[in-house]
Amino acid sequence: MSSGKFYITTPIYYINDKPHIGHAYTTIVADVLARWRERRGDQVSFSTGVDENAQKTVDAAKKNNEEIRAYTDRMAEQWESVWKTLRISYTDFIRTTEPRHVETVNDFWTRLDAAGDLYKGKYEGLYCKGHEAFLNEDELVDGMCPEHKTKPEFVSEENYYFALSKYQDKLLEFYEAHPEFVAPANRFNEVKSFVERGLEDVSFSREGKEWGIPVPNDPHQVIYVWADALVNYISSIGLEGWEEHPADIHAVGKDILRFHAVIWPAMLMSAGLPLPGQVIANGFLTIGGTKMSKTIGNVVDPLDLAARYGNDGLRYFLLREVPYGEDGDFSEEKMKERYNGDLANGLGNFAARVLALAAKEEILTGTLEAAFAKTLADMEKAATQKMNDFKFGDALAAIWHAISFGDKYVNEKKIWEMEDDVRRRQALFNLASLLEGIVAALAPFLPETAAKIGDALDCEGEGIKTKKIDILFPRVK
Ligand code: MSP
Repeated sequence: MSSGKFYITTPIYYINDKPHIGHAYTTIVADVLARWRERRGDQVSFSTGVDENAQKTVDAAKKNNEEIRAYTDRMAEQWESVWKTLRISYTDFIRTTEPRHVETVNDFWTRLDAAGDLYKGKYEGLYCKGHEAFLNEDELVDGMCPEHKTKPEFVSEENYYFALSKYQDKLLEFYEAHPEFVAPANRFNEVKSFVERGLEDVSFSREGKEWGIPVPNDPHQVIYVWADALVNYISSIGLEGWEEHPADIHAVGKDILRFHAVIWPAMLMSAGLPLPGQVIANGFLTIGGTKMSKTIGNVVDPLDLAARYGNDGLRYFLLREVPYGEDGDFSEEKMKERYNGDLANGLGNFAARVLALAAKEEILTGTLEAAFAKTLADMEKAATQKMNDFKFGDALAAIWHAISFGDKYVNEKKIWEMEDDVRRRQALFNLASLLEGIVAALAPFLPETAAKIGDALDCEGEGIKTKKIDILFPRVK
């Protein structure tokens, strides 16, 4: 078992609307990894939060007729409360309007400046507010941003530039030395070829904006939202904390991978700070093939799904159904199928049967039969391997393999008909031990379910005593 520090982050989300299941997906992925490491004995820091210093915050506040501060306070609270309801095990919730962040951004900017990597220049280009980024002419479709279906605005102003182009070779060397830096691997290839094609310097400030962190010593400029937002990962644990132990994993979506895998490491190199261990990127959840997005308006509310399928039902579906890194089309039909099939009939039924049969016995003791010990060891090994590769669906499949093994054993042995006390009690000891192992592996994925089964499975020293349990996953019609 590894034991050490583990620091994982989600993106900080824009607050122009409430969370949808796309955001919940990225956050749940980070949560599973955080819980997985915690289970292995690591001391986990898990940071999430909100990105407030964006133009879209100002626009949304105006649209709601609210003062900007009041709007951001309200929305920050709403985001945090969604993560609480979904039982996300974050250890820090960061807002980019907090003094601790503003200070860190100031320090960071001063470091880039001291390295000679910031200079003033004129910028002209097409700005997409949905992306909070400039787009190239050739990225547009009929003059519109293809992702947000909006027309970018033409901007011409004096900005501070970050000398990203200086870091092209250093980045490529770094990628070479760290073949795991970006996962899944096909995404890493995209990043590498992007950098190989040549990097342009990026605009790192905006002129004359009312909202955002002012550039140190130049209050007519505010720091560009990304140059500010990325630094949140440091603000969360402090500069010293980052120097001692930078993020192990930044979990993001594929839309913001370049910011995290290209610009962010270059910023850190410039600032003389250590680089994160890995950036992992999920694909998009789509509806009928179109990206789910608050800008487009085709969103599904995670709280609504969680109310009907449970937090664990939502987690299970997202992690099992969508291969990590790829896009996945959301449909409630598929969700229902997974829920009724794998959870209600599969795990729920198996756990209920074992607990009910064993509850009729005195404390169960014995020695685990070899086939069971092997099933558990194989499960643990496969799940660990799959988790290291971020193959969440396959890790779950390895656990479900053990459930099927147990189910088959119950059916073949017809435990409920076994009259020989010694044989029946040995069989039930095997099954209860199997269930215990399954629950331990499942806990990072389905924490609430694992806790319920765990409560009904009392392991006392060498023995196990069980209780019957309420239905874990009531069927959904
Ligand atoms: N504020 C920036 C991130 C700054 S991080 C230093 C931002 N915010 S966002 O609110 O637009 O959300 C970003 C992330 O939400 C995406 O990278 C992705 O992880 C997640 N998703 C948003 N829509 C999604 C889908 N439709 N599907 C899957 N994930 C999605 O960008």
